[in-house]
Order: sequence, then structure tokens, then C-alpha cells
Amino acid sequence: MPKLGVNIDHVATLRQARREYDPDPIAAARCCEEAGAEGIVAHLREDRRHIQDKDIRALRKSIATRLNLEMSLDDKIVAIVCSVRPDVATIVPEKRAEITTEGGLDVVKHFRRIKLAAAALKKAGIKVSLFIDPVAAQIVRTKESGANIVELHTGAYANAKTSQQIARELNKIKTMTAFARKMGMTVNAGHGLKYDNVRAIARIPGVAELNIGHSIISRAVFVGLETAVREMIGRIKR
Ligand code: PXP
Repeated sequence: MPKLGVNIDHVATLRQARREYDPDPIAAARCCEEAGAEGIVAHLREDRRHIQDKDIRALRKSIATRLNLEMSLDDKIVAIVCSVRPDVATIVPEKRAEITTEGGLDVVKHFRRIKLAAAALKKAGIKVSLFIDPVAAQIVRTKESGANIVELHTGAYANAKTSQQIARELNKIKTMTAFARKMGMTVNAGHGLKYDNVRAIARIPGVAELNIGHSIISRAVFVGLETAVREMIGRIKR
């Protein structure tokens, strides 16, 4: 069964709405771990719309499981992540105007920059993951870039409307998981996963970890964070 990594960005989004101190994403991370999450994910965006520099330093100190920092290829961000030394750094495409990470990283197009960033991160002792669409050419270039992990973008699956579209997107993720595993890579998946669509992804053989944020934090508003995390783990394991 895949492990659950909880993305706590939206706890910081709520805090930043008032620019005060609560809710505290560090306390939220601890709560997720107590509820059984096996990793914490946070994205230090260039515009600092939610997670702040001080958060990632505090998370590094307090997290008992695994810290996975999402990041762009911006030189300043790469330098910060190298100094914080999370367990995993996930390189994602980042656009200022987007509401959330809209698609996978184009590793084919940005190969040189990605390879350089991956080398710097690995030199700092950090495992490197690339957030990509489930496409063979992207997986091949990910392997060649020196990254150890692929995170397959599940957004197209999550947004699919008809049963045919859902089956097609699911099949892409299944096939590309097997392909990446054959190449010796660790495969994670995430984006847009919810309580009612996570099960099919959790059942794909070879998926190591699911990184989920928005649906868990949204559910936490009604049932509390610990229960929301436990319920998601229940869905993954069922
Ligand atoms: N994985 C990656 C790489 C992401 O960028 C995000 C969104 O920040 C997630 C997982 C979590 O997506 P969601 O909030 O839709 O669950």
C-alpha cells in the first residue's frame, strides 16, 4: 500500500490570509504525523503565497517522518532548499499566475537546467523527485537527469469527467508506473486526489507514496485534521 504524504500548504494559506501566526503549519505537520502520515510535503513558492522560509526551517527541525519540499528551478530557491536539506526535493513547474501546479514539469524541454539543479540537490544529500505527467519520454529524461524519484501528476485523472476518460487516465498512470519501476525508479503520485477518487490510484502496483493536500485540509475544517488524515489513510488502505 502506498504511504501518505500530507501537503500542508493550505494550512499556511489560511494563516497568510491574516498574516498572523495561526493556524501553525508546523503544529499541523506534527498532527498529521501523529495521525499516521508518513511524510510531510510543503511548497516554498517564489511568491511565498503560503509557506514561508521560516516554516521550512522549522519543519526540518520538527518533522519525525520525511520532509518533501516542492520547489521551482529558480536559483535562489535551489540554494535555499540545498541549505535546508529536506529528505526529498520535488521539482515542479511554477507559474506566478496559476492557482495550483497546473501540469507536469517538461523535463524534455528543460533538461539541462533540471540536470544541474538535480546535481546540486544530490550533492547536498537530498533525494530528487520530478513532478511529471505520465508520459514515457518524460520518465526517460527524468532518469537521465539523475533524479531518483518520479511523482506522476494525477490531475488529468482527477479532472476526468466520463468513465471512459477516467479509465484512460488511470491506465496511463498504471502503464507509466510500471515503466518507471522497470527503470529502477521510485514512483509517487499526487494532485487532485480526494476521498472518493484515491482508491483506484492507491491500488496501482508499484506506487510508493501519494501526496495529498487540498482535500485533507478541506475535510479537516469539518472533522479536525487528525480525523481527516486517518480517514484518508483508511481510504488508501481499504
Ligand atoms: N504533489 C505535488 C507535486 C503538488 O504540487 C501538489 C499540489 O501542491 C500536490 C501533490 C497536492 O495536490 P492537492 O493539493 O491537489 O492534493
